[in-house]
Amino acid sequence: MKILVTGGAGFIGGNFVHYLLRNHPADRVVCLDALTYAGNPATLAPVASDPRFVFARADIADRTEVFTIFAREKPDAVVNFAAESHVDRSISAPEVFLRANVLGTQVLLDACRLLGNPRFHQVSTDEVYGDLPLDRPDLFFTEETPLHTSSPYSASKAGADLLTLAYFRTYGLPVTISRCSNNYGPYHFPEKLIPLMITNALTGQPLPVYGDGLNVRDWLYVEDHCAAIDLILRRGRPGEIYNIGGHNERANIDVVRAIIRALGRGEIKFVKDRAGHDRRYAIDAGKIGRELGWTPQTGFDEGLERTIRWYRENETWWRDILSGHYRDNLEIG
Ligand code: NAD
Ligand code: DAU
Repeated sequence: MKILVTGGAGFIGGNFVHYLLRNHPADRVVCLDALTYAGNPATLAPVASDPRFVFARADIADRTEVFTIFAREKPDAVVNFAAESHVDRSISAPEVFLRANVLGTQVLLDACRLLGNPRFHQVSTDEVYGDLPLDRPDLFFTEETPLHTSSPYSASKAGADLLTLAYFRTYGLPVTISRCSNNYGPYHFPEKLIPLMITNALTGQPLPVYGDGLNVRDWLYVEDHCAAIDLILRRGRPGEIYNIGGHNERANIDVVRAIIRALGRGEIKFVKDRAGHDRRYAIDAGKIGRELGWTPQTGFDEGLERTIRWYRENETWWRDILSGHYRDNLEIG
């Protein structure tokens, strides 16, 4: 298969490109990425000289660029990771999120529909379901939970999901959608909770915890997410949505304390809460387990240890982001 991966210079997309080339020797991968602030050429350096890998710099919301790449590459499948992904940034600048996440997805769907009808997989998020109360640990998001978004980010992701389903119903495009909980692992941009806390602790900065620190996220090691998407792409039923989650619910404050314990340093600073801050996410991933046999392989303690080790062993990767040097050379390969 030739698989076009959008957003492959980012955190999960980058891990997915590595996963595909490691696990499917006969596949070819085209990575389409705009290299926004969140895209880092260094994430793709390990595969840049692989003859099965091609990189194309383009904005998914730019119809001409996208159609040119589709006409040239003729992918069998498209996996759309490209998005603005940080909730805090969506609160200060929602427009960028609508352009990339909604319009960009629509351009990709049109390119698929008009140029070859490849399999299309939309990488979505559990945030489209809104949040759950802390005092109802019996409640989980299922694929039938109504959309109930809180932030401009999650609203834009929900818009993209609805468009994806509309292209299935109206044009018969073979689409699937996955809605995953919080990922963590290597190549995670140090603006998100876990990599921010690790890098702040290692550089002697305070660790900013929003509000009371009791908000709960369901953490999944990124490689488990990649394995789930790979399964859905090959064996999922077109038109279906699959939830993905790790049953690793943790309060933010406990995650931060675990990082401080592991590193032996770090000072918590409670700061102003995020506007509209979702209280708790928890995923019921029963459907993907029953239909496709997926189960997460990495528990939270092991995953966190591996992640912290990766940040210790790959200081250049994140220090270049902190200094801005990662923007000096945007060539891949
Ligand atoms: P990220 O911010 O690390 O990476 C996003 C990538 O997309 C970057 O390489 C960036 O350059 C690229 N990009 C952004 N706008 C683009 C555009 N207009 N055209 C082309 N490329 C563009 O994001 P991530 O955390 O890896 O998330 C990837 C996807 O997974 C997103 O769709 C996100 O909504 C979804 N998701 C993330 C998580 C998580 O915990 N990080 C969980 C569930 C779902
Ligand atoms: O649930 C999936 C989502 O997970 C993805 O769709 C998003 O793309 C991804 O960014 C992530 O969203 P969150 O908002 O949950 O992740 P973030 O790392 O920004 O925050 C995790 C929790 O930690 C959240 O409750 C806010 C809190 N937090 C975050 C930061 C950056 C802090 O307390 N301090 C911080 O500095």
